Amino acid sequence: MRKNIVAGNWKMNTTVAEGVQLAREVESAVKAAGELKCEVIVGVPFTHLTSVKQEINIVKLSAENCADHKSGAYTGEVSAAMVASTGAEYVILGHSERRGYYNETIEVLKEKVDLALANGLKVIFCCGESLDERKNGVHFDVIKKEIEGSLFHLGAEAFAKIVIAYEPIWAIGTGETATAEQAQEIHAFIRGLLAEKYGNQLAQDTTILYGGSCKPSNAAELFAKPDIDGGLIGGASLKAADFMGIVTAF
Ligand code: 13P
Repeated sequence: MRKNIVAGNWKMNTTVAEGVQLAREVESAVKAAGELKCEVIVGVPFTHLTSVKQEINIVKLSAENCADHKSGAYTGEVSAAMVASTGAEYVILGHSERRGYYNETIEVLKEKVDLALANGLKVIFCCGESLDERKNGVHFDVIKKEIEGSLFHLGAEAFAKIVIAYEPIWAIGTGETATAEQAQEIHAFIRGLLAEKYGNQLAQDTTILYGGSCKPSNAAELFAKPDIDGGLIGGASLKAADFMGIVTAF
């Protein structure tokens, strides 16, 4: 059976000291909460990985990106091997902010996915449509293209290391959440795509997260949907209490 996950994506927020403090708070809250119905992950900036790793044990660690090259003369880049060497278990790839602001294409993301998996990282792969794309009714096509183009070259064994995150761009940081029904519709569509490609078992075993203005007040309704297996949380992951309000929504 698939795993439920609540993952924070801190984005470009917090100094190392602040991040360490936040991670400490999340770890102790998770510990205090006892048995949870989901895995908890914090996605943190590269600079924070090693220090945050020291603070967490139950909570798992993710990077927010990795390079599309193995190693070498790529000033300022951070490779998948470097990320893995910090003890991180996951890497978030394909976030719409990276696709949009840093021109990460489907092809570039394919390289990143391969390097992440080759270095033993699990991938939280983001996909999602813009408001215009939804208005024009092409949201299903956009998501299909993103998933097929960067992931469907993988064999079933490799694909088992992928978590999908559906993040409608119009719901990110806007306070406007997709309704639970809108999210469920896309999640079911994605699971259908996976079933067609890899068979029903793998599709049923794949965790599909929702991201976009997810908060304690709407998490329970989203997570109650049959194909929504948790959340990728931006703003609300920056306060331990809010983040825990989502973690405990299961
Ligand atoms: P918000 O939760 O701030 O809308 O961000 C969602 C997101 O982009 C997570 O990756």
